[in-house]
Amino acid sequence: MSKPSSADAVSTPDYTFGQQHLIGLQDYSADDIRFVLQQSLYFREVLNRPVPKLPTLRDKTIVNLFYENSTRTRISFELAQKRMGADVVNFSSSSSSVNKGESLKDTIRNIESMKIDMVVVRHESPGVPQFLRRCVDAAIINAGDGAHEHPTQALLDMFSMQQVKGQIKNLKVVIIGDILHSRVVRSNIIGLTRLGAEVMVCGPRTMMPLFVHEMGVTVSHDLEACLEWCDVAMALRIQLERQKGALFPSLREYHERFGIKMKHLERYPNMTVMHPGPVNRGVELAGDVADSDRAIILNQVTNGLAVRMAVLYLLSGRMDERVG
Ligand code: CP
Repeated sequence: MSKPSSADAVSTPDYTFGQQHLIGLQDYSADDIRFVLQQSLYFREVLNRPVPKLPTLRDKTIVNLFYENSTRTRISFELAQKRMGADVVNFSSSSSSVNKGESLKDTIRNIESMKIDMVVVRHESPGVPQFLRRCVDAAIINAGDGAHEHPTQALLDMFSMQQVKGQIKNLKVVIIGDILHSRVVRSNIIGLTRLGAEVMVCGPRTMMPLFVHEMGVTVSHDLEACLEWCDVAMALRIQLERQKGALFPSLREYHERFGIKMKHLERYPNMTVMHPGPVNRGVELAGDVADSDRAIILNQVTNGLAVRMAVLYLLSGRMDERVG
């Protein structure tokens, strides 16, 4: 497997990865996170091969349990599983017996009786992955639970930052937008601060959780000051579907105050722009910013495939075997 190749290498010489699930980065130590990122380097290289496939998950059966919409995460997990030779079953709540009233527990018990090894789950309710960990005999991977955590998104974000900026330690990262409803921000704050980054959050007061500063971040409502300070600006999607009332006057006004525009790229030439997707063009980012070479949004997506391959490998129980 890949050797440490960045300043964010695992700090303990006799470190071993002991995790069996990925519910949230809250459960992962700094070395666990560094180790996943190191392993991801190997899988990122595999993606550049003429045949980007490995037999690592042969004989493993994985269920992708998506109760909430997804494009990137769902396709990325499925592609990662197939590239590693797993048997993959896709479950979508809209076309399942959930619509006939079957509970989550009954659904998963029925799926479990078909002998599965891993479950990737996305759900609108925070805590569903923890619930599955208690009642299912399989490795559980959280693909996003409500406004709680989205750990593989944060891992791929950190991997992408390492790729562009060299290391996470001492990196200045501002996360902009709907902090209140974002699971991406929660996982990123945990991961980035554990690896020694300085993190700022920026957005309207109505979208700022009251105690967010207790997570070790600085709070700002001044976009210009944040962009002047940062190495990386990560814009978040405005999650209109999770908002119970209007939290800002209009999308146009939001863009005016908190949207990243071409003038910002010109003013701050070393700033890298990120977004987990899906992007609301003209809201979080001007369209030309999203399309510029300063935005690494599509690199994030490619890196997501490598990071998810690494996570699947590490949680598959196949760590003692050669991966290819
Ligand atoms: N970033 C992200 O989670 O995107 P999807 O909702 O499309 O999976």
